[in-house]
Amino acid sequence: MKKILILFGHPAFRRSTMNAALREAVETLDGVTVHDLYASYPDFLIDVRHEQHLCEAHDIIVFQHPFYWYSTPAITKEWFDLVLEHAWAYGSTGNALKGKITFQAITAGGSLEHYGKDGLNRFTIRELTIPYRATASLCGMDWLPPFAVLGIHQGLPESERVRHAEDYRRTLIALRDERVDLDRARAGERLNQDLNSLIKEG
Ligand SMILES: Cc1cc2nc3c(=O)[nH]c(=O)nc-3n(C[C@H](O)[C@H](O)[C@H](O)COP(=O)(O)O)c2cc1C
Repeated sequence: MKKILILFGHPAFRRSTMNAALREAVETLDGVTVHDLYASYPDFLIDVRHEQHLCEAHDIIVFQHPFYWYSTPAITKEWFDLVLEHAWAYGSTGNALKGKITFQAITAGGSLEHYGKDGLNRFTIRELTIPYRATASLCGMDWLPPFAVLGIHQGLPESERVRHAEDYRRTLIALRDERVDLDRARAGERLNQDLNSLIKEG
């Protein structure tokens, strides 16, 4: 069984609907650790060694956050800036993250038609997460495209929220139990685009 670390970044968690639902669906799963960055570091003083040890103790690292200005909330960026040290995460002797699977679990206000060449946001979600993919590559990590829940500003009905939360849970269980077709997953636009084609039922 693979161990999964969720680095959760939401600056207004009490007002969250989608991230709260996603998180609630997975936080009691065996093998899953949810680590709330804003709750742990309200003053942004990230304990670098603690974060590095947490990463070392897990096989799969998920960055879960709302999409803010086509990127992450500030604490997740701070986490990257401080924790991914040379000679630990990258460089000729920096192998701590090598081979670990990583992906972002993103919620976004814009809907699918806004994320494309002809849409309001001009680029796809996969394209917009390229800096994160490059970071993963530099660290020798096994990058997967984001699990993305779009269209929050349209006001997702409760049934859709529940469906996305169930998909997230199903995805994490399958990754934990090594039942995901990783080659197919890597090639996709979003991890949750067609879960039935990715997950081998146990
Ligand atoms: C500062 C800020 C920046 C945002 N930037 C984006 C963005 O670039 N693209 C987008 O689709 N939505 C954007 N949003 C909308 C959030 O992604 C959306 O409110 C969030 O995913 C909802 O999730 P929650 O219910 O967990 O809060 C932004 C919201 C805020 C507050």
